[in-house]
Amino acid sequence: MEHHSFDRRQFLKTAAGGVGVAAATLHAPYIIAQPAKIRVGLMLPYTGTFAVLGAAIQNGFRLYVAERGGKIGGREVEYVNLDDESDPAKGAENSNRLVTRDKVDVLVGTVHSGVQMGMIKIARDSGLLLIIPNAGVGAATGELCAPNIFRSSFSNWQTIHAVGKVMIEKGHKTAAWISWKYAAGEERFASFKEGYEKLGGKIVKELWLPFPNVEFQALLTELAAAKPEAVACFFAGGGAVKFTKDYEAAGLKAKIPLYSDFVTDGTLQAQGSSAQGILTTLNYADDLDFPKNRQFRLNFAKTYKLQPDVHSMHGYDSAQLLDIGLRAVKGDTRAIKNIARAIEGATIDSPRGKFTMSKAHNPIQDFYLREAVGDQNKFVKVAWKALADPARGCKMA
Ligand code: PHB
Repeated sequence: MEHHSFDRRQFLKTAAGGVGVAAATLHAPYIIAQPAKIRVGLMLPYTGTFAVLGAAIQNGFRLYVAERGGKIGGREVEYVNLDDESDPAKGAENSNRLVTRDKVDVLVGTVHSGVQMGMIKIARDSGLLLIIPNAGVGAATGELCAPNIFRSSFSNWQTIHAVGKVMIEKGHKTAAWISWKYAAGEERFASFKEGYEKLGGKIVKELWLPFPNVEFQALLTELAAAKPEAVACFFAGGGAVKFTKDYEAAGLKAKIPLYSDFVTDGTLQAQGSSAQGILTTLNYADDLDFPKNRQFRLNFAKTYKLQPDVHSMHGYDSAQLLDIGLRAVKGDTRAIKNIARAIEGATIDSPRGKFTMSKAHNPIQDFYLREAVGDQNKFVKVAWKALADPARGCKMA
């Protein structure tokens, strides 16, 4: 019998027939030790304004897995993809489908904070591991924190928190705010306001529109009339492209400097001149000079013929977190206590720089001031060292 052609069916037949028992015994440990594939449910926006984010996250996740021979925690990976359409109304139902119908072992997703709330509910009910690769909703690592829920990205509170400090350093004493009216915009506004007002800044105007609306004209007229010294905003994906273009077309780019966290990520090419020079704070800059970042960018570009961005980095690190957790338990996705212990104790070597996890399972990480130059968000300086989310309401913290 050829060793390489000895598959499981042959093994059963041979063993049952009492023939070739020696060969069967010899091969049994090898055959039986092959664990089942791990089913990873990737629930992401594959359509709509956040589609570019979903694609980047998926590419990053798959790159990490490919770099490890297609495995996570020693188990081969099998993907189940689901488009969540960034629709909060379907968040729980879609997550539940992945658990009950598709029988995934692990949930990975998503981008939109409202959809995330549905995923969190299903993760808490089912006890399945959930890795959040983007959505910043505070509750995920706040009042709804749980041993089986981890975030590889950030909280909404974290990403914009340094913007107020940067504005004050630049001498802007008054500011206006504009964003989509849902958790990601509202939680950012609260954090920006907290940081900016503490340093003496005054917010003179708040402007909101429903997600994913991009009818900015009337609001931009109001914004100009309020005459703030600077503007802070939150938009991402397709909406960010439309916003910076409209801001420039309204003649505001040269008059009132625009600040944000996300408005220039993964979208610079489409934004053209409208995004050039915009200052943002985030946990990643394209040109970070870490060996891990250089290697990540090289492998990503080789694999996809595309440049990675902060979203691909979060996808990559979602797979990395899973791998760290599952390697500690030989791939047993239900061993939550020991998975959590492994991730909590790890120093994660990320393209963003090394980071650790808080007790609430949110990264404690540096935030960088970046400037949009050409097709990159370039590192300017560290805007806030080792910033931790306050984890309000989390009983594990
Ligand atoms: C969110 O909904 O939490 C969200 C969406 C897009 C981003 C960041 C956060 O770029």
